[in-house]
Amino acid sequence: MEKKKVLILGTGGTIAGKATVAGDNVGYKAGEVPVQELLAPLAKVASWMSDWQWEARQVAQLDSKDMDLATWRALAQAVVAAGNDPDVAAVVITHGTDTLEETAFFLSLVLQSSNPVVLTCAMRPASALVPDGPQNLLDALAVATNPHAQGVCVVAAGTVHSAQSVAKAHTYRVDAFSSGDSGPLASVEEGRVRWFRANPSAQRLTVAGNESDVGPDAVWQRAVTTAAWPRVEMITSHAGADGALVHALLQPVPGVSPVVGLVVAGTGNGTVHASLLPALDTARAQGVVVWRSTRCAFGQIVDGPGTVWPPAVPLSPVKARIALALALLS
Ligand code: SIN
Repeated sequence: MEKKKVLILGTGGTIAGKATVAGDNVGYKAGEVPVQELLAPLAKVASWMSDWQWEARQVAQLDSKDMDLATWRALAQAVVAAGNDPDVAAVVITHGTDTLEETAFFLSLVLQSSNPVVLTCAMRPASALVPDGPQNLLDALAVATNPHAQGVCVVAAGTVHSAQSVAKAHTYRVDAFSSGDSGPLASVEEGRVRWFRANPSAQRLTVAGNESDVGPDAVWQRAVTTAAWPRVEMITSHAGADGALVHALLQPVPGVSPVVGLVVAGTGNGTVHASLLPALDTARAQGVVVWRSTRCAFGQIVDGPGTVWPPAVPLSPVKARIALALALLS
């Protein structure tokens, strides 16, 4: 039987970063080393890799703080093409840590492929004295080729996270990601994957007044072919907040698409400053869809029976922004 292939797509990040001084873990440039060079040394230490075919392709070479829609589209199209190729069993994506959870979540919402899609990253550049990227990439390959892998997940520091729950939780530590209350999907230990739970399928979210669900069948075509998504902005409720920022966002700006969605990062259990709420009402009256998330890193909003507006979503603000933009596309 032909060996099955794993496609490795490089997008840059610290995993491909280089510093001029080897011990420098912060003053480096992300997205410098080609993905083929990240992959090459691994086969020498992992004999099981000879059971598989590996193809590495560079889709982008950027610092993921600068992630953009064009790169997401290219990535989604490459993953979809791989899903239609009977030789490809799985896709691994190397990515920066800063927006990793957004790319993973976006892909989980738009992909229909049953092949696993495994994102990985590093907190230290490839030029570090002790880089974490090679182990993370090797672990990601082990997860991608594991028979129980499914859906979109993230592998970092020996832990497998689902696209739904993963979030970057630390600025500097090598173990920077958390699955919050849900806990991780699995551990990777010496190439062996120990599963704790199945990867949940993508959440379906409905925008009130919009009949379409956010789900792969509803939106993926439009998400990867539309040049500009509906404009959804995020605002935060905080001590001293008022509606000035919302009113500013509602003003037309020549050459800029109007805001059609707003995600409010509320305090605690999704509460919103009394001085901000009237401006959100004005936004709603003008047809802007408003969703309510929370600034808290853990938990989801638990509404009482009387809390009806703005509707709460069980997503972090950055993930809610993506889900709302996709919902408004459909
Ligand atoms: C990036 O997100 O591309 C830079 C930071 C990192 O990968 O840790």
